[in-house]
Order: sequence, then C-alpha cells, then structure tokens
Amino acid sequence: LDNGLADTPPMGWNSWNQFYCNGGNGLTAAALMNVADEIVEKGLQEVGYEYVVLDDCFQNGRDANGVLKVDPTRFPNGIKPVADYVHSKGLKFGIYSVPGTKTCANLYNGYTPNIGSYGHEQIDAETFAAWGVDYLKYDWCYPDGSLNLTKQQAFSKMRDELAKVDRDIVYAISEYGDSAPWTWAEPIANLWRTTGDIAPNWGSITSIIDRQAELHPYSGPGHWNDPDMLQFSNGSLTYAQNKSHLAMWSMLAAPLFLGTDVGALSDAEVALLTNKELVDIDQDPLGEQARRISNGEGLQVWTRELADGDLAVALLNTTGSSATVSTSLGALGAQDDVYVVRDVWSHSDLYNTAAAISATLPAYETAVYRLSAGMDEHLPGVVGASGSGR
Ligand code: DGJ
Repeated sequence: LDNGLADTPPMGWNSWNQFYCNGGNGLTAAALMNVADEIVEKGLQEVGYEYVVLDDCFQNGRDANGVLKVDPTRFPNGIKPVADYVHSKGLKFGIYSVPGTKTCANLYNGYTPNIGSYGHEQIDAETFAAWGVDYLKYDWCYPDGSLNLTKQQAFSKMRDELAKVDRDIVYAISEYGDSAPWTWAEPIANLWRTTGDIAPNWGSITSIIDRQAELHPYSGPGHWNDPDMLQFSNGSLTYAQNKSHLAMWSMLAAPLFLGTDVGALSDAEVALLTNKELVDIDQDPLGEQARRISNGEGLQVWTRELADGDLAVALLNTTGSSATVSTSLGALGAQDDVYVVRDVWSHSDLYNTAAAISATLPAYETAVYRLSAGMDEHLPGVVGASGSGR
C-alpha cells in the first residue's frame, strides 16, 4: 500500500500467541505495559522491535453513539493510557479488528462481546486514531451474509477510512492466504498473512517456509508477505529450530513480531533476536524477499540481493540429522568472480570463494552468509584469483 509506511518490514510483539483470549493474569493493560518495558530492557528496541500490538479480545460492544467499548476488567481506563505508556517508551501501539460483524475469538473461545468493524469502519478508524493507534491488524472473521462485500471491498473499505484520519497507521490484513492475497493486496495493505496460524513446532514452521518459496515477486517496500509471528518459547522448539525460524523469517523480509513472552526469553534467544547483522538483512532497504534456489531431501538454499549489491545466502538443514548443504556462485546468480563470505552468526569473514559455498550443519540449523564482491588476501581461499580486493 502506497501510504508511505512500512518501507521495511514492521517489527514488534503481538499478544495473540502468548495470551490468546485469556484474561486474568493474561491480556490486560498491565501486561501490555510490562511488555513495553521488557522490549526496552532486553535491548530489542535498539535493533528495531517497536510495535506493541493488542490482538483480539479487548472489545466490549458499542455505546449509544456506536463507539467501541473496551472490556472494563482488562482495560479499566480504556486503551488510550496503554498506548500513551507505550509511546512514552519510544515504541508504537497496534490494535486489532475485523471486517465482519464479530471477531474470530467468537469462534474459538466464546468471548462474546468482541464485535467487528462492519458498518462502523469510519467510527472505528477515528476511534483508533484518537486512542493513538499506529498499526491495525484487520482479520477476516465473520464475513457473514450481511457483509455482502468481497474480501477486496471489505479490506479496501478500512484502508480508505484509515487514509482519512490524521494519523499514520500501518495496515496489516489477514485472510490466511486463502485467496492468494499476494496477487491483489499490494494496493490495499502494507502486509498480508500468507498462511493459516503458525504453531510452535517445526512442522508448522517448515510448511510456512515452503509456502513462501514462490512468493518473492510479490513482496517489497510498503507491501510485505507475512508468514506470521515468531514462536520462540511457546512450544517445544529447540534453540537450533528458533535460530532457523528467525534466520528464514529474516531472509524472507518478513515482519518480525514476537508472539511469545518477552520476559521469558533466555539470554541466548535475546542474542539471536538482537543480532544486528541478521536484522539488517530482514530490514534491508531493497526489500527483496529471498527465493529458494534448491531443495532436496530437506536441504535448502535461499538467496536475496541486498541494497548495497551484497548477496544474503541461507543454507538450511530442515532434517533431524547433521548434513552438508552446498551451493555455488553460479547457482546464486552472482555477477562477480570472487566474493568474501561473511558469517552472520559469528560476525566474521570466513573465506574467499570463486565458486563453492558449503557448510556442514547440525540438525535443524541454518547458516546465514553475507557475500561481498571482491577478495580479502588475509582470508583463505582462491589465492591469486582475480578480484578487486577490499
Ligand atoms: C486469527 C489470526 O490468524 C490470529 O493471528 C489471531 O489474530 C486470531 N484470529 C484472533 O482471533
């Protein structure tokens, strides 16, 4: 969507995969403010995580004027003070609604007061702006008979109302990739989900990665494919699996939203998430999503071009045993004769190559390299090969 927003994929935290619809010690004003504190304390803000997004289950019907009301036990002072607090930390605030009459949580949890924006798009856009909302997730729920709109019309309606309010609001839509939104959503939204909901297990993550393989032509500045949230400590993912999850989301120029308890992240997980060289690939201004150039027996090679002419390369071992994954400059479509291979995990230049790139990877691991044209004579490899030096 050409609204001047989301030039790079948005980053932050979203409440859904941590709290779902649960109140009590779950989804409350205090919990959201605490997340804002943790994003700052853990150094996540410094590398770009900035949106705190309140997903489904805060609504409580409408007042006599049609203005959305908010669950009084979860948000006793409404939403605005929460958004204000988030802003006071230098972060941004996001919220959730749907084009239908009721939100999805009616299906899952029987949390009945949560109504959708159907027929109230204008007043909701105005309300969100007044609350200080910077990001709206608009989720395809309850498109029942009365809606009488196509998906495109329903999502465009809220886009148009957001455009009229005096506030910059990133517009994220979801219809779970059901009708190939990448083929029609670029003029409508800043990002769109490409699949059903992610789950915190390796099968879900690899199936979402597979879904992205053909989607690279559709993503770019202001309009991103969204493979859903980062899971980390939600389920049984191992450290290697989380590392690959994050590496691949970064290669895919994916929005990076933590869908997990920020306070529970281990130091090692925080170190992954704040790896600036990896975040720089995700946030590269060219905005090119990686494409898969090989995939055999669970061993995959992905590459994307970066704004400064470097190439990012991921060698992914999706299998449960160690394996060697290889590629070549030719297969990557590299234009120069020789490149320095830099390891994004160890922050070090490894070797010069005029041909092969290869790594032996433990189960579920990913190597991420940044390749720069030229050669460094202090590094091993291709001694005497032509090259510009660096
Ligand atoms: C379905 C979406 O895919 C989830 O991310 C979440 O927003 C729920 N709906 C909320 O009901």
